[in-house]
Amino acid sequence: MKEKIGSLLKEVKAFNAENLEQLEAFRIKFLSKKGVVTALFADFRNVAPEQRKEMGQLMNSLKTAVQDKIVSLKESFESTVESTIKPDLTLPSNSPLGTRHPLSIVRNDIIDIFSRIGFTVSEGPEIEDDFHNFSALNFPADHPARDMQDTFFIEKDPDIALRTHTSSVQVRVMQNTTPPIRTISQGRVFRNEAISARAHCIFHQVEGLYVDTNVSFVDLKQTLYYFAKELFGENTKTRFRPSYFPFTEPSAEMDISCNICGGKGCNICKYSGWVEILGCGMVDPNVLESCGIDSKKYTGFAFGMGIERITMLKYQINDLRLFFENDVRFLEQFKSSM
Ligand code: PHE
Repeated sequence: MKEKIGSLLKEVKAFNAENLEQLEAFRIKFLSKKGVVTALFADFRNVAPEQRKEMGQLMNSLKTAVQDKIVSLKESFESTVESTIKPDLTLPSNSPLGTRHPLSIVRNDIIDIFSRIGFTVSEGPEIEDDFHNFSALNFPADHPARDMQDTFFIEKDPDIALRTHTSSVQVRVMQNTTPPIRTISQGRVFRNEAISARAHCIFHQVEGLYVDTNVSFVDLKQTLYYFAKELFGENTKTRFRPSYFPFTEPSAEMDISCNICGGKGCNICKYSGWVEILGCGMVDPNVLESCGIDSKKYTGFAFGMGIERITMLKYQINDLRLFFENDVRFLEQFKSSM
């Protein structure tokens, strides 16, 4: 019996399988109910008592050797199977696509439209001093025009505030550049307003500035006319109404024909057929002078719009608060507009 176990042990150690079927046959040969190991254990009762200890140990070591062999061969098969499967990088991904925020989509559209006619993008700080946000823009100290934009001041320092418009960035550009200047400034602005479906204390603007020799109101109108058609479609009509801003003279507001009812009249345009989309005007000579630009040599136009308002019109969104809630059911709807 001892020799028999010895030769079986040798056989087990030397065994190698080429595939899982051969390994299974090996397992059946040794460990099944009618297998070699089972038969040996059945024979155990015939072993002489003084040999039982030694035989028992031998039989156990044979059984473990068989089990170890099976485990190690199985592992080697599995690892070769794994290593032969290469990931197929062309398969479509299951992970859901993210979406750009509608405000980012529209901001990028607007910037795109103006960059096609030579405007570049400039950025500036959200925390501003009085000079850049107000004084340089022809808001005299204590002038009631400052109340047009309810301001958040930094506590204890009336000279520092959260910018109320991105015109402050244009002041910085004018201070540092000799004309011609063609720039778009965009970003977050802050006004102390109650939050409602139509207003928020934080919103986003895109403002434009063009300063050069011989810039006229005709250039302003034609530029904004082009912009409105690019953003809202070829059939969009525009009209300019006189308005007031401290930093522009003359000033205007531009309306577009309501893109929701096509000008027939609906509750968005309050049955007028027109919706206001931006403020604009010729840069006041005082502003050019405050920024170190010779107002006898140069003229310019400026315009500014709220991205929220434009996005609401473009996508027919009726509550501005939706932009800030980050509800995925709202955001998911912009998947195709990346
Ligand atoms: N800065 C103005 C605002 O925030 C918009 C504007 C810009 C108007 C340029 C005219 C010219 O309301």
